[in-house]
Amino acid sequence: MADPIPRPTHEAFLELRAGKPDVWGALEAKFDAAVLMAVVEERLDQIWDLDIPEDMPRIVFIWGEGGQDCLTIDLVEKRVERGLVGSGASLKLIAGEKYFWLMHNGGRWQDVYLSLQAEVERKPDVFNTIANVFVFSDPSNLRDALLSTLRIPKERIERRWDGRKCRIDRFCPHQGADLGNAHITEDGFLVCPRHGWRFNLNNGGRCTASSDTINSEAAD
Ligand code: FES
Repeated sequence: MADPIPRPTHEAFLELRAGKPDVWGALEAKFDAAVLMAVVEERLDQIWDLDIPEDMPRIVFIWGEGGQDCLTIDLVEKRVERGLVGSGASLKLIAGEKYFWLMHNGGRWQDVYLSLQAEVERKPDVFNTIANVFVFSDPSNLRDALLSTLRIPKERIERRWDGRKCRIDRFCPHQGADLGNAHITEDGFLVCPRHGWRFNLNNGGRCTASSDTINSEAAD
């Protein structure tokens, strides 16, 4: 099985964005931070009873110059507040008001995101599945998508490669694909068959694309 294509560089994204037609140019945006907060609250209401891991990054939407105009979403507490609240890990989306107006005016959040009109800052710079599901799922699918991420079964299996044997989590921590037959490269990376995330079996099964792991350990 071939390895997935390499990650695109920041320059490649900038080039791609520069080549996109300005389909938003004629839109007359009437951005309203209160409406955006209400839309976020509707999303939070859907997941009010779910236990979200404590190490979840805060999600911050920033639309003003200098990072002053923003709101902070705390998925653990199911709270959204005006301003930059708290410290520690964060996922920041920095864009113009038109971007966030589309988000509170019926646009699909994942379509808005794929416009590449936002700068994204991750601290630490690792992919977080739950934050990603919250920001990019359709509201109709949000709860189910989060549940399937939070409730991935914990079964363990053994895999062999290069004459060695190891024990790993059977289901991918991203979206639960079965890793029972996943390809393992010669240098010990297990490649998830669904989206191509790579897990380093020589480093405890840590993922190269996110902070997730499949908890690899040597088996006798
Ligand atoms: S399910 Fe997405 S990378 Fe494994």
